[in-house]
Amino acid sequence: MTTQLEPDESPTATATATATAVAGTHTPHRVEEPFRVAPERYYSPEFAAWEREKLWRHCWQVACRAEEIPRAGDFTEYEITGQSILVVRQDDGSVKAYFNACRHRATALGAGTGEFLGGQIVCPYHGWRWKLDGESTHVYAAKGFRKECLDPDFLRLRECRSVVSMGLVFVNLDPDGPEFADTVGHFENALAPIGLDRMRVRWWRYAVLPANWKIAQEAFMEAYHVQQAHPSLAMGAGDDDFDNEDAEGYEILPGGNAHMVHATLPLPPGMTQAEHFTRYNWAMHHGTGAYPTEREMFVQTGLQERKIPDDQFIGAFFQELYNYAEGAGIPLPPPSTDTVGFGHAFPNITVLSQYGNALMYRSRPNGDDPESCIFDVWALQIPSADDEPGRPTREGPVPMEEWPQILKEDFSNIAGQQKGLRTDGMDTLLLSERYEPMIINNHQEIDRYLGRF
Ligand code: FES
Ligand SMILES: [Fe+2]
Repeated sequence: MTTQLEPDESPTATATATATAVAGTHTPHRVEEPFRVAPERYYSPEFAAWEREKLWRHCWQVACRAEEIPRAGDFTEYEITGQSILVVRQDDGSVKAYFNACRHRATALGAGTGEFLGGQIVCPYHGWRWKLDGESTHVYAAKGFRKECLDPDFLRLRECRSVVSMGLVFVNLDPDGPEFADTVGHFENALAPIGLDRMRVRWWRYAVLPANWKIAQEAFMEAYHVQQAHPSLAMGAGDDDFDNEDAEGYEILPGGNAHMVHATLPLPPGMTQAEHFTRYNWAMHHGTGAYPTEREMFVQTGLQERKIPDDQFIGAFFQELYNYAEGAGIPLPPPSTDTVGFGHAFPNITVLSQYGNALMYRSRPNGDDPESCIFDVWALQIPSADDEPGRPTREGPVPMEEWPQILKEDFSNIAGQQKGLRTDGMDTLLLSERYEPMIINNHQEIDRYLGRF
């Protein structure tokens, strides 16, 4: 005997409900007031379906770092909410992105990362072939197909828009979507001083986190959590120390992007500038495994051996670092307060940078599950001009206990926040427009996409 499904539980009914919601004009769980965010935005399957159709299908997003595909024929696959894109290095050094499907019967043409040997993309199923630029070169036993099936334009691989900027390959699945300059372009300008395009991967790991992609990302979009979540960085500073005009300054940019222009954390009572600076660097070095790197710690340790007056220590550190970089042929960007701080590229990239190195995060949905995300972490640094590190490899998923301490602290709160969001008493999240404006700005831009497409 078969079990009868209730009418509204049938797969067809569910699919229809989702399609209706996506096609409607009402944006669900909209951010009406900037200090309140509906918890459903982080777990509702309906909201995730809206994001899938109206955000991810239309926004610019980072598919890979350009150094992942250094030579002609190298490819890497980027997956986002059920879509697969192949990013392929061309003979002339440029990059093209294709929807990853054979023009015969749709078989994916590449998986993960690899190389199309001999400059040919070959379908593993029946052996149709293309040049790296997407032009069809071979249809096996073509005489068996109708003439109209063999039109060269029709056989061409379907391309999706791509732009290489800041050492990153951005793609946009919508041929009629927004222009790059009107969206990521604003972030590109703000981040130009850090020299992201010159950076190369030191390590690259990812985690699968039990949280919505936005929760994971928002953990890195404010410094308000540092006093509680990262004791090794806060070093006992009180809230009066934090709550001053210079503690944080965010520049909210068009297109959902943002830039933190003052990244200074408060000075704990009784601590000198030099003590705070050096202890903070040590805590970050050990706690992130990323920045500062051995290079900066080497410079700092050397300086600590000298008797430098407290008010001159930070200036001396930068001077010494630039002397060292010049001697080693490392093209650091010109010193500027803009090279320390962080930025956010809508919708899902966060870059924390200092001293010619950076941590970069990308958070994206894990398939269609609104409560799971894939979180990539790149530790980057500007190498010396004649040092060209090889093609980077991605490790993971790295389990929670194997991440450096500070990331572990952040990941633990990410999981806890998702858990709390699902409790019945949770009616709204409260945000500070002063401390958490990057998060609010990102939600508001998401709502613009949901309303527009
Ligand atoms: S599916 Fe690709 S050649 Fe047949
Ligand atoms: Fe943190």
